[in-house]
Amino acid sequence: MDVRGVGRGGGGYYTEPVLGGGGCGKESWEGNCGVVVAGVGGGSRGGKKGLLDRTSVRNRDAIDGKNDCIFVEEPPSPPTIQLEGRHYPTDEWTNLPSHISSALSRKLHLQPSHPLSITRRLIESRFPGPTYQYHNNLSPIVSVHQNFDSLGFPIDHPGRSRTDTYYVNKDTVLRTHTSAHQADTFRSGTSDGFLISADVYRRDAIDRSHYPVFHQMEGARMWSRDGCKARGGVAAVIMEDIESMPKHGINVEDPNPPFHEKRNPLQVEHTPEEAQAVGAHLKLCLEHVVAEVFGLARAGAVAAGGAGAEGASEEPLRVRWVEAYFPFTSPSWELEVYWQGNWLELLGCGVVQQSLPKNAGVPDKIGWAFGVGLERVAMLLFGIPDIRLFWSCDKRFLGQFKKGEISRFVPFSKFPPCYKDIAFWLPRSGSSVGGQVSFHENDMMEIVRNVAGDLAEDVKLIDEFTHPKTGRKSLCFRINYRSLERTLRNDEANSLQQMVKRVLVEEFGAEVREKSEK
Ligand code: PHE
Repeated sequence: MDVRGVGRGGGGYYTEPVLGGGGCGKESWEGNCGVVVAGVGGGSRGGKKGLLDRTSVRNRDAIDGKNDCIFVEEPPSPPTIQLEGRHYPTDEWTNLPSHISSALSRKLHLQPSHPLSITRRLIESRFPGPTYQYHNNLSPIVSVHQNFDSLGFPIDHPGRSRTDTYYVNKDTVLRTHTSAHQADTFRSGTSDGFLISADVYRRDAIDRSHYPVFHQMEGARMWSRDGCKARGGVAAVIMEDIESMPKHGINVEDPNPPFHEKRNPLQVEHTPEEAQAVGAHLKLCLEHVVAEVFGLARAGAVAAGGAGAEGASEEPLRVRWVEAYFPFTSPSWELEVYWQGNWLELLGCGVVQQSLPKNAGVPDKIGWAFGVGLERVAMLLFGIPDIRLFWSCDKRFLGQFKKGEISRFVPFSKFPPCYKDIAFWLPRSGSSVGGQVSFHENDMMEIVRNVAGDLAEDVKLIDEFTHPKTGRKSLCFRINYRSLERTLRNDEANSLQQMVKRVLVEEFGAEVREKSEK
């Protein structure tokens, strides 16, 4: 199983929806939902030429941190882009295509009968008010400071790269994770704990478990050291709370010490007792979430006779804690669940770096935070096999779910895949006129998404080669076109493929290689 996610980019800070695919469902592609509208034969969804809205990023190559880049020319961006009613100036960092900006208005986590919203509410129910406040309407347009600097991301962290993150301009991004709101929420200090559910954006691969827009829930719980003084100190107060929590019936593997000098350090500002108490509280709260959510998911899978469900219902659910690294927590962990034969990474969490409350004007607070990908949980809960389905406006999908109910997704028939390969030469470094940028695998993903929308199920780089004499680089991608809704005609897939070729040639200066060419 593909277990990218938290460990992505070598920096270990992301929690993404990653699941093996099952069958295939059905989805509307008619495009009245403001996103993922396929443009068969009629020009791409990104509008006219320049659909990637990109300009030269020469100055970014240093932080791209990847050597597999080739310089190509890019078209200019419009001087401003309008997002949520505001105009933002563009600059050489802008890389926001229109099919992404149109997702901003969807707010799937707030549609009451949507599986993502049902999942959100289920988790929220484990964190009741008034201790926990819910924030579900925070704008996805955040500053680079909020998304990265406030959390202690080093300046050369790969997550900051333009190949991974959607930049509105050099100071503004679409949040890549809900942690972008941690500092502000700590500063506002309106509750001891909070949950933030929101859409997050990352440039990424195309397959059944990756989508450039997905949803996360951030949770945090803080205690005031001063406020706990009279009751024996913060560690004692937290331990008391732990004692009062009910037992769960799951089987937890947690072989590592509460912190480790090298692998998972205690912060200098914390006593061992404090870190241990905060960590234990965090783990127990999350184990309860998993017991609840996966208890329901398993009951559903067993009832539906799903793969791996046989006999599973009698055994206690297995989870394990794995040491992790995030720039904004220490010690840190990931929680994995044993699900249908695989260890599945579910969330990232840890003891909040003291610099966050300190910089947010609440230096006396200490606590924990976690981040969980909602799609991944919802896919398991409802048995949804393809992440594109969440964006469906088709009644045959949406009509299956009801507020407050966990039901099993009933797949429609699976339609045939249509594989098309495309091989092309990239222009030589320096051969283009004007601005030069690097060509990254994610650029290909973006082109295909712009042209084919949700008709592209999968895109893979299947061959890569540098000509020994000319030094030119050739790439070959295999695109799987498949509709969730109907059988795609070969001529439709061909015309999508033609459009992908055209963008490569006209906007990236690529030279398409024909089959006969050696
Ligand atoms: N923001 C992290 C991610 O996207 C998850 C996380 C949240 C980790 C809070 C620790 C604390 O992967």
